Order: sequence, then C-alpha cells, then structure tokens
Amino acid sequence: MAELFDDIFKESKIFSNREVLSPHYIPQNLLFRDKQIQEIAKYLTPSLKGERGRNIFIYGKTGTGKTSCVKSVIDKVKNLPVSKARIIYINCRIYNSRYRVLYKIVSDYLPLYAKRGYGIVDIYEKIINWIDEDGKILVVVLDEVDIVKDLDDLIYTLTRANSDIKSGGITIVGVSNKVSFKDELDPRSLSALYENELVFPPYNSNELSSILKDRAENGFRKDAIEPAAINLAAALAAKESGDARLALKIMSKAGELAEEKGAEIITVHNINEAAKYAEEEIAYDLINTLPEHQRLIVYAIALLSIQGSKYKRLSDGADSYLFSGDIYDKYCSVSNSLQKEPKSSRWYRKYIADLDMQGIITSYESGKGIRGHTKLIRLAYVPEKIKSTIEKALYKEVGADNEKVMPA
Ligand SMILES: Nc1ncnc2c1ncn2[C@@H]1O[C@H](COP(=O)(O)OP(=O)(O)O)[C@@H](O)[C@H]1O
Ligand SMILES: [Mg+2]
Repeated sequence: MAELFDDIFKESKIFSNREVLSPHYIPQNLLFRDKQIQEIAKYLTPSLKGERGRNIFIYGKTGTGKTSCVKSVIDKVKNLPVSKARIIYINCRIYNSRYRVLYKIVSDYLPLYAKRGYGIVDIYEKIINWIDEDGKILVVVLDEVDIVKDLDDLIYTLTRANSDIKSGGITIVGVSNKVSFKDELDPRSLSALYENELVFPPYNSNELSSILKDRAENGFRKDAIEPAAINLAAALAAKESGDARLALKIMSKAGELAEEKGAEIITVHNINEAAKYAEEEIAYDLINTLPEHQRLIVYAIALLSIQGSKYKRLSDGADSYLFSGDIYDKYCSVSNSLQKEPKSSRWYRKYIADLDMQGIITSYESGKGIRGHTKLIRLAYVPEKIKSTIEKALYKEVGADNEKVMPA
C-alpha cells in the first residue's frame, strides 16, 4: 500500500507552489489594470461615504481580469477603517435567480433569519428594514450577472428597493463576460445598470507574457520553464482571445505534462500539447454558462451527431454536417420533454448564429439543390463529451428545482 501515496511526499521538480497557478488564485499584482482598479474605486467612493452612488457595469471577454480586479477592490474596501457601505460579492453562476441572490444577501448578513421557507416578499422586506436600521449603503456585486434567469426582475427589485429604503440604499455592480449583453437587456434594466460603464479590453501577447512570467516565478521552481515556452503560451492565448485564464491554463497544464514525463523543464513542445487540452476545457466551461435554450440546442446537436446515420448528414470528407431543420425538430422535442416551451424558429436562427460566433458550432449555407437552401451545422467539439457535460448541468438544475424530468 505504501507506494500508493509515494507521490504525495515526492518533491515536484516543476512546481514550487501549485496554488499560485490555479484559476482561483488572485495574484497580489494585477498587471496592466491600474486604470480599471482606480475607476472601480472612484465609482464606489460615493457609496463608501454613505451616499447613493450610481450603479456600475463592468464588461469584457472572459479572462480579462474583471473578477480579480473587483475582488481586489472589495478586499481593500473591507479593510477600510470607516466605511458607510457594506459590500457583498455574489457569483451568479451559483446564485442564478432573483430569489437566490436575495437569499444570499440575507444569509450572509442575517443568518438567524435565513431559515428555509421564507418567500421573496418576506426576504425583500427584511433586507429593506435591515438597511434602514443604520442607513448604510449595500453594494451588491453581481459577477457573471448575465446568467441570472430573471435578471430584469432582479434589477427591478434592487433598484426599486432604493425608493422603499428611507436612509441608506443599494448600489449595484454588474459584471459580465458577454460583450453583446447590452442588446439583450430590457431598456429599463439597461438604463439602471449602465449608469457607469467600464470595459476590460483583451490582453495582447506582451501583456500575457508578463502576467505568465510573474506567475511562473511564484508557481514553478527556478528555471523550470523555458522563456520561449512562456512566450508561446502567451502568443497562443493572445491569438485565441487575449484571455489570461486560457494562458495560465495552458502554462500550468504544460507543467503537469512535463512533470508526468519526469522532466525538469517545461518546453515549447509541452505548451503546444497543453494548448489542445486547455481549449477543450474552456469549451466545456463555455457550454456550462450558456443560456438555457442555447444549451438545449447544443444538446440537440450532440444527440443527433451521436445518433448518426438515422439522420441525414452531409459528409465533406472527415466532417459531417447536420441539417438545421432536423436540429430544430430535435431541440423542440428535447425542450418538450423537459417541460420547457421551445423558442420560435426565428429565435432558433439567432441562437445558431450566436453559437457559431462563439465557436461552439461551425455552420455554412448549403448551395442550391440540397433541400432548396439550408444551413448545415456541426459541433466543434466531441459530441459524446458535450452530451455528458450538458447532462450533468441539467441534472444539477433538476435537483435544484426538484420538479423537472430528464429527456429520454
Ligand atoms: N492583470 C492581471 N494580472 C495577473 N493575473 C491576471 C490578470 N488578469 C487576469 N489574471 C488572471 O487570469 C485569470 C482570469 O482572470 P479573471 O479575473 O477571472 O477574469 P474574468 O473575470 O475577466 O474572466 C485569473 O487566474 C487571474 O488571476
Ligand atoms: Mg470572472
């Protein structure tokens, strides 16, 4: 048995501190983000003085440092000796509805009250009364706010609270990875959320190199990575999306690959290999954060791709494509079996275009002759893996709502 755990005690030749390379680690130094951090602090200043500030909306692609910057500002605020504000960070991937967000506020600040079973009205009133008691400002940071199912209701409730509160108030900080998010909001939520706007641009290759270098110094043993390997990881991530998370993922995965091989140094070759894994993982993360109906469409495509020959596909050498119409039918039947109303085919076409833009599917218009004129679609990732990822996510939701059934 002893050798089973030998690895735990063996010192790594590559890593000196794995934690530093994990996606959850928030580095002391957030490079190239001084301006953004200062802007966030500036926008929060009225709230900290106890004045009703304007709401803030922060957006930019994944991995541009939004969450890290916001959290680092929150830490500084929490350490202020005097402040007329309380600040709460809410990850909307977990708290993804109005009820869950309000419940999270109550359970953080009023744990005695936060027993199960209170309805939304009770919770709302409790929050209002609690803010009124000492007149402080509650700053609610909603990270990945676009995932909230009933977002318009949530924004309405939080904004309206300000007219029900006599002293003190609520300031919202919304954070989103979706750059096109603005177009999807109800005009009322839009004007409430976008009182102050802050954009996080993607990092370029040089910036990513510096970020990686800083992290490599703290996470890897001395000289355990070739400088050329760092630059390659940065260049690959910059080409893809300017995403620091992707760059870090590639670099730490390369570290694991080198370690598995018993090597002492991470090479360019390890980076190339790691890039393949990292992209897959990111695709699965992406799928898990898709809005419900887009995810169901992807699920329908995965199911059809697996069922294969039963459905008509076109083959152009290695890649086979599905007919858009077949996918729509499948999507409708999947939705129905989950007791969800399928969206119209107009919406479906818009979703397909979105999915194409995000690189989850590839599609092209058929020429004349194939069923008149149709779109041909194929999944950009392995269908079996996509299917199981989505099923896991669906099960989680079914568990949470306790009412829906899985499709056959
Ligand atoms: N400017 C930066 N300096 C150092 N590390 C960064 C920087 N920006 C992002 N990172 C790292 O990249 C990863 C993703 O950043 P994150 O803040 O989660 O991005 P976002 O919320 O925009 O998706 C994190 O591990 C973070 O530590
Ligand atoms: Mg984030």
